[in-house]
Amino acid sequence: MEKAAVGQFEGGAAFVDGEVVPLSEAKISMFDWGFTRSDVTYDVGSVWQGAFFRLDAHIERFFNSLDTLRMKIPYDRAQVRDILHNCVRAGNLQDAYVAMVCTRGVPPRGARDPRLAQNRFYAYALPYVWIASRDKQREGIDLHISGRVRIGAASVDPTVKNYHWLDLVQSMFDAYDRGADTSCVVDADGNITEGPGFNVFVVKDGVVHTTDRGVLEGISRRTAIELCERLGITVQLAPFHADAMRAADEVFLTSTGGGILPIAKLDGVPLPSFPGPVTTRLHDAYWAIHDEDTYRDPVDYR
Ligand SMILES: Cc1ncc(COP(=O)(O)O)c(C=O)c1O
Repeated sequence: MEKAAVGQFEGGAAFVDGEVVPLSEAKISMFDWGFTRSDVTYDVGSVWQGAFFRLDAHIERFFNSLDTLRMKIPYDRAQVRDILHNCVRAGNLQDAYVAMVCTRGVPPRGARDPRLAQNRFYAYALPYVWIASRDKQREGIDLHISGRVRIGAASVDPTVKNYHWLDLVQSMFDAYDRGADTSCVVDADGNITEGPGFNVFVVKDGVVHTTDRGVLEGISRRTAIELCERLGITVQLAPFHADAMRAADEVFLTSTGGGILPIAKLDGVPLPSFPGPVTTRLHDAYWAIHDEDTYRDPVDYR
């Protein structure tokens, strides 16, 4: 694949219909089932200080999602990697939010059979996006525990990164109404699942807990788990109830949009420790491994 010119679309670029274009030209048909049916999958990786972080893992998860949804794109993994690199080069971004998206596409007029639609692949790179601003992170994020139930895994496979976000978006409004900063939602038994763009972890008596079901298996979640193993911190992968979270010593979120984010308060009630010692160790290790060659895929800006 031909390399885009560096800074050709300074500040961000998209890949639409086989070419790299400015973000203002990144458009899809309003008849695309990605829009009318949420029939879409996507993945979001990041570039930090000029290098992709764990890009292979994001591309792998994306291809698994395509298989599960029976979607096909005309590119292999290596070509998708090149397309993403091109978007970042064209945007001349050192720290970036980089998305790859596949929609079902537009079936022939009147047809209701998804097999007749040609799947569409899109990608784009924007300046890095944080789940919470750095100021908010320092000041302390207040997380609302919503009573809303995340759409069940038997309905929508949560390991396929998807746009089924109405439960999450409604829970964000619940949070804002209460003066909180963001939210997480529960399963039918009141166990904590995930939030808008992140997985949720609690720390109790030095043990790190996160659920093993009903959520997207975040790449930053995986990184946090692997870092616990490296640092000799015990991790337990099992559902935990909202009450267990309220009784936790520390709470943190994991997301490509910010890495490991310590939580200061739950529904306005301060946690015993912020930022807690375990969260701080993981946070520092998360950013430190961005320099390790195995995780880095440097962008060529020449
Ligand atoms: C619903 C949901 N859960 C979890 C995550 C975290 O995943 P990752 O660590 O791969 O960014 C995301 C990321 O956007 C998400 O949308």
